[in-house]
Amino acid sequence: MMLSRFAKSLFAIIAMMFLFTMLAMLHPPSRNYIDPWTGQLFGEGGVEKSLKAKQQIAGVNGGVIMGKLGNATAKAALGQATWKLMHTMTLRYPEHPTPDERDALKSYFYLTSRLYPCGECAAEFQLLLKKYPPQTSSRRAASLWLCAVHNEVNKRLGKKEFDCAHLDDEYDCGCGGDDNDVRTPKDVDTGADIIRGGR
Ligand SMILES: Cc1cc2nc3c(=O)[nH]c(=O)nc-3n(C[C@H](O)[C@H](O)[C@H](O)COP(=O)(O)OP(=O)(O)OC[C@H]3O[C@@H](n4cnc5c(N)ncnc54)[C@H](O)[C@@H]3O)c2cc1C
Ligand SMILES: *[C@@H]1O[C@H](CO)[C@@H](O)[C@H](O)[C@H]1NC(C)=O
Repeated sequence: MMLSRFAKSLFAIIAMMFLFTMLAMLHPPSRNYIDPWTGQLFGEGGVEKSLKAKQQIAGVNGGVIMGKLGNATAKAALGQATWKLMHTMTLRYPEHPTPDERDALKSYFYLTSRLYPCGECAAEFQLLLKKYPPQTSSRRAASLWLCAVHNEVNKRLGKKEFDCAHLDDEYDCGCGGDDNDVRTPKDVDTGADIIRGGR
């Protein structure tokens, strides 16, 4: 049977449209990625995203672990020791922390809000962290954040407000001359390691 010229061109056009559709299907605009080894499907963001999630230590976030601490004397002594530890920590924290160091400090506070041995205090601390997330960008940011949070606890317990301008005098650990930064300092101009006396 002879096809008309019209039928031939129509067929050619349909065939070309089919071809283009197939080509488009070969390259779907998908950002999903299937790991050929495990068959695991990763969503947008690729493998890196799930790798990062795996590196996180479980247990940093979650509920309060300890029960109520009934003994008021023990509760006060524990509070004084803990505030001393935490304020000293933020005041020796690096001026320019790395992302890892920032994660460490943040995790520390979240873990404390779970493991603090006075359960009812921990529950209050969790609420505070929700309202005022830990500031970890620098020593100054971290220590002023903790001072403000401590003042929130003071307010709730009917204690007087602490003037955060006096943090350095209050928590002078006698380590003023120490190297506050564990990493070897570099000479600003040459980039060479600075050698300190007595080390
Ligand atoms: C996370 C957390 C939650 C707590 N929750 C409760 C609770 O729910 N109920 C309860 O009864 N107790 C709670 N406590 C204990 C409470 O905060 C006090 O530690 C305790 O009552 C003893 O008080 P204090 O008057 O000796 O001074 P503390 O508050 O223990 O402070 C110790 C010293 O730190 C200095 N200081 C005071 N304010 C600041 C500030 N803002 N910044 C820096 N330094 C300051 C002062 O020199 C003060 O003497 C909690 C403690 C912590 C660490
Ligand atoms: C409360 O705690 C203090 C200090 O930890 C302790 O000396 C005291 O015996 C305790 N009191 C009671 C009733 O357990």
